[in-house]
Amino acid sequence: MTSAASATAQIGPLFDLVGRTPLIRLHRIEQDRPGIELYAKAEFANPGGSVKDRPARRMILEGLASGALSPDKILLDATSGNTGIAYAMFGAALGVRVRLCVPDNVTGERKRMLRAYGADLVLTNPLEGSDGAIREARRLYQADPGAYFYPDQYNNPLNWRAHYDTTGPEILEQAGGKLTHFVAGLGTSGTFVGVARRLRESGGDVVLASVQPDGPLHGIEGLKHMDTAIVPGIYDPSLADRDVRVDTDAAIAMTRRLAREEGLLVGISSGANVVAALAVAEPPAVVVTILCDGGERYLSDRMWEGV
Ligand SMILES: Cc1ncc(COP(=O)(O)O)c(C=O)c1O
Repeated sequence: MTSAASATAQIGPLFDLVGRTPLIRLHRIEQDRPGIELYAKAEFANPGGSVKDRPARRMILEGLASGALSPDKILLDATSGNTGIAYAMFGAALGVRVRLCVPDNVTGERKRMLRAYGADLVLTNPLEGSDGAIREARRLYQADPGAYFYPDQYNNPLNWRAHYDTTGPEILEQAGGKLTHFVAGLGTSGTFVGVARRLRESGGDVVLASVQPDGPLHGIEGLKHMDTAIVPGIYDPSLADRDVRVDTDAAIAMTRRLAREEGLLVGISSGANVVAALAVAEPPAVVVTILCDGGERYLSDRMWEGV
């Protein structure tokens, strides 16, 4: 067996748990807009607890296959947390060291999770957000390229391809021909771009809506305000029929409702997606959006204070 094949065999069971997540109907929240059926893909059901397990798995698998990732390399990337958790989890299973550039204001739970998996954290200026983490990862890589496997999730087509090959087909299978709208937030943009390309190619007449925070200073962890951020190389704005801007307070209020009314404890970007899904669709409509990650990793956030 080659070293890549043996590594893949070793990590296989963990990789096999990624994807095939349930599509959950939001029965109570959809009542805000009579005539709309609202469904959400439960990405928190992935083994690392988020949608980012899909691209991390794909980039690592291809890195092993090409030889770019080997046990002597350090896996390096910039992440607002969830891709990092996926890298750290898979890295631990593979016996590969993982170094992550993370803005210092990500929640304490995330930092603890990353360290629990054994990852080495390079904390970057919180005022620079995910852009500061991207700049630091580039700097580290350029200083010593031979030491690292740098998947660069913001510019790596395997990021959106993971969603094109898995999330998109799953949504088509689960929602069938009824689907009228697909709504997803933009971080690296991998989820939106990959699913949107797959839905376009499937020939249906689905409205594709991207979701962004409504300003540069926002509290929707995981999402980017593209007008003012470093724009990911994989982002293709021409795919979106609509681009919905969501206010942080509205996203927080919806995140609380998802917990209380649907029993779904999720992160704030999931709340933003649901706000946008309700805003974008005209009845009759069947809308699918994404619950990007679980809410446990945000429990120390101010939004849950006093609850
Ligand atoms: C919590 C959360 N929501 C949404 C996203 C956006 O996903 P994507 O990077 O596929 O655009 C991310 C990405 O990191 C995330 O961590």
